Amino acid sequence: MTTYADAGTTPGAHTIRPGAFGNATTLRCRECGTTIPLGAHYACSECFGPLEVAYDYPRITREQIAAGPHNIWRYQQLLPVPTDVASFPNTEPGLTRLVRADRLAADLGLARLWVKDDSGNPTHSFKDRVVAVALTAARELGFQVLACPSTGNLANAVAAAAARAGIRSVVMVPHNLEQQKILTTAVYEGTLVAVEGTYDDVNRLASEIAGEEEGWAFVNVNVRPYYAEGSKTLAFEIAEQLGWRLPEQIVVPIASGAQLVKIDKGIRELVELGLVEDTPYKIFGAQATGCSPVSAAFKAGHDVVQPVKPDTVAKSLAIGNPADGPYVLDVCRRTGGTVEDVSDDEVIAGIAQLARTEGIFGETAGGVTVATLAKLVRTGQLDPGAETVIINSGDGLKTLDAIAGKVGPKATIRPTYDAFTEAGLA
Ligand SMILES: Cc1ncc(COP(=O)(O)O)c(C=O)c1O
Ligand SMILES: [Zn+2]
Repeated sequence: MTTYADAGTTPGAHTIRPGAFGNATTLRCRECGTTIPLGAHYACSECFGPLEVAYDYPRITREQIAAGPHNIWRYQQLLPVPTDVASFPNTEPGLTRLVRADRLAADLGLARLWVKDDSGNPTHSFKDRVVAVALTAARELGFQVLACPSTGNLANAVAAAAARAGIRSVVMVPHNLEQQKILTTAVYEGTLVAVEGTYDDVNRLASEIAGEEEGWAFVNVNVRPYYAEGSKTLAFEIAEQLGWRLPEQIVVPIASGAQLVKIDKGIRELVELGLVEDTPYKIFGAQATGCSPVSAAFKAGHDVVQPVKPDTVAKSLAIGNPADGPYVLDVCRRTGGTVEDVSDDEVIAGIAQLARTEGIFGETAGGVTVATLAKLVRTGQLDPGAETVIINSGDGLKTLDAIAGKVGPKATIRPTYDAFTEAGLA
C-alpha cells in the first residue's frame, strides 16, 4: 500500500500530481464566481467569499457506481479525489444503512419515513465522510499534519484517520466537551488540546494557527472546500438506497451548515448527471434552541445570520457563528423547506423516541433532528403524506451525559424469582 509520505512534502514544495483531484477542475467563489486553480485555498482573492470545488464530470452510470467499493469511494468520480484514492489508508466511511422507520412514522403520523443512520461510520458520525476527503486533499497538497477545531465528532474522525494514515493529528476542542468525546479522541494518541472557550473561540484560534503553521491542514479551515464535498455522499447514498430516486423531504441537523448545503449540492449533481429523475424535494434544517442562529434568521426573513453564544445539551451542534449559515437559508428557501429549533427537553425526548421506536440510539444531534421532525409535523411545516428522510448523524454512546439519570433499570433485585415478582416485573 502507498504511504502518506510518498505523496509529497510541504505545501508548495511539491507539484500536485496530475489527476490529484479527479474530475475537479477549479475552486470557485460562492459569492462572485471567480475561479482559481485547485490548491490549498479557501477564501476568494477578490471578495474573501468561500470557495467550492467545481468539476468537469464524465458520463457516469448507476451500474459503474454500484460496481464500486462499499464505501464513499464508489462516488469518487463526483469527489475531488484521484482514481487511486482507495489505495491509500483511510477509514473507509460511508454506505451506512438507510432504515425504514415505520414505528417512528406511526408515532409522528407520517406516511413513509427513513433514518439515514450515520452512526454506523468508523468513528460513529458522518464526520468520517468529510475527513476522508480532506485527508486525501491534504496528502495531495503535501501537508504533514491533519488538524481541526471541533465540537467533538470531527475530533474523533480526524484523530482516527490520521492514526491510520500514520501522520500527526492536532485536534482542538472546547474544554467542556462530553467526557465520551474526549476519551474517544484521546485514545488515538494524537495531540488533543482542550481550549478554555466556546467552539467559536477554538475556531478563531485554529484559523490563527493555520496562518502560521505551513505544513498543517486544518480540515475544516484551509482545506474546507475539499472537506465539505464529503457530505455530498449522504445525498448520493440516500438516492441510491431508495432505488435511484429522491425523497420528497429531508431533515438535516445544522452546526456550521456545511452538511445541509452539500446534501443539496449532491442532489443537484445527481439530477444534472441524469442519475435520478428531477423530482421536487424540500430540505429542512434542525437546530437546538440554545444555539439556533440559522433558525432565528430563517424565521425573521433575514439573509444574514447573527452570531449567538451557544447554551445547549447538543454540544456537537453548538456553533454560534455558522460559516454556511447564509447558504443554508438559500437552500431551505429555494427548495421550499424551513429551519426550526427545539428545546433541550425536546432533544432528550427525541433521543428516547428514536431509541424506543426504532432501536436506534442517536446522539444529541439525532435528538435535535427527531424532535425537529416532530415539531415540523405538529406545526404543519412538513407534509406528513410525503416521503421523508432524516439524518441520524452520530452515535448516542458519545453523548451519554445527555440521558444519564433520565433512564435506568426498572428495579434492582436479589437474584430470586420471588424478588422478581415482588418487584412487579412478571
Ligand atoms: C453529529 C453531528 N451532526 C451534525 C453536525 C453538523 O455538521 P455541519 O457543521 O456540517 O452543519 C455535526 C457537526 O459537528 C455533528 O457533530
Ligand atoms: Zn469572490
